[in-house]
Amino acid sequence: MEKIQSLKGMSDILAPEIYVWQFIENTARKFFEDRGYKEVRTPILEETVLFQRGIGEGTDIVNKEMYTFTDKGGRSVTLRPEGTAPIVRSYIENNLSASDEFVKLYYIGPMFRSERPQKGRSRQFHQIGIEVIGSSNAYIDAGLIFMMAEFFKKIGLADFEIKLCSLGCSDDKKKFAEALRKYLLPEKGRLCDDCKVRLEKNVLRTLDCKVESCKILLKNSPKAKDFLCPGCKEHYQTVKELLTDYTPANFKEDANMVRGLDYYTSTVFEVTHPALGAQDAVAAGGRYDNLIENFGGKKTGAIGFAIGVDRLIMALPAERRKELEKEKQLELYVVTTGKNSYGTAYREIEKLRDKNLFCEINYDPEKSLKSQMNRANKKNAKYVAIFGDEELKKGEVVLRDMKTSEQRNVKLTDLASAVKYTKSACSGPKD
Ligand code: HAM
Repeated sequence: MEKIQSLKGMSDILAPEIYVWQFIENTARKFFEDRGYKEVRTPILEETVLFQRGIGEGTDIVNKEMYTFTDKGGRSVTLRPEGTAPIVRSYIENNLSASDEFVKLYYIGPMFRSERPQKGRSRQFHQIGIEVIGSSNAYIDAGLIFMMAEFFKKIGLADFEIKLCSLGCSDDKKKFAEALRKYLLPEKGRLCDDCKVRLEKNVLRTLDCKVESCKILLKNSPKAKDFLCPGCKEHYQTVKELLTDYTPANFKEDANMVRGLDYYTSTVFEVTHPALGAQDAVAAGGRYDNLIENFGGKKTGAIGFAIGVDRLIMALPAERRKELEKEKQLELYVVTTGKNSYGTAYREIEKLRDKNLFCEINYDPEKSLKSQMNRANKKNAKYVAIFGDEELKKGEVVLRDMKTSEQRNVKLTDLASAVKYTKSACSGPKD
């Protein structure tokens, strides 16, 4: 029979790598909740129009990369390629601004883009995202970028670089787009077929083009930062000054920064890491001050970013990864001999777990003691507790230190503390 395999670009995450994932996700939850962010879990499937309107019709994500299909009710639905548009939908739908006009949210979960898989690029990938809705204050931009850098440091990421740019407000973007169109029009014949369409429909997206000849043409094209109005210029200047104050020399201006999503205005940023190769962005984000209004909400400033967890793990130093991949050692493995001991052991082990002991019980009491002990060895258990009918009559079990092979009888009531708090639980006096 032919084996069924996972889909291209979508992979299983198994132990020991899963421990790294769990560490990052648990750290993210604590880190962001400690700073007042609340978790939101939006559905993985949304109406297609949400992304068409949010990310933009001319973008590569919407044009080429979405997993879109018609559901049984005849609706066009899409596996979410990113988290910002769903969060904004949810913010408006659930009237999140009612209790507080300033809302801080985070999300953790899989995203889907049907791209050509390569190192650092998969079709199901995972993001940890942050969205702050309710203000256009430049202090938020700088604070958010600083917080993101602190999170990376907490995880153990080294040598990352923060790139910063400003796209300006929608009027600035319009002027920039006009200038770019003017610049490219005489070169139309040299553009790739996709860019010829982009030139007519959404010229800013020519900046995403990966075709070498287009990239060369765009090298000396007009830059967004030259079209900033006085207000946007001042905003950008404040962000840079604050960032210099918070994280001296940790960010770099990049006038060529391309963000492949249409909703951005004003501040945009990316974090890159040299270990990642061609797909070197480990996180990215920016302001989207018009998106809430475009989705039918009240005009409200907003900013956010998303970390690519798959790439974050790839970029971690090898020793840090190894350290995080270490499996937690099994503290106690319970084996049984005799007819009646299994039930008692099963009940007792739950009490041990309540006392925070990491323990497992052998699943087959019919097996010989020797074979059960072999299993304990395989599991690298620190101690084994042997529950036997005779000892249980006295309220005791035999506790064995698997490293030294010492063993002694301990009272059932003392078992958890014997394992947890004694250097060698078996080296005490034998009674
Ligand atoms: P994005 O730049 O499309 O932005 O994605 C953010 C991050 O997700 C990237 O920097 C990268 O680390 C990771 N990523 C994207 N595509 C893939 C892929 N195919 N395979 C592996 N990792 C990938 C957004 O998604 C915006 N929603 C970010 C944002 C939040 N802006 C404002 N708020």
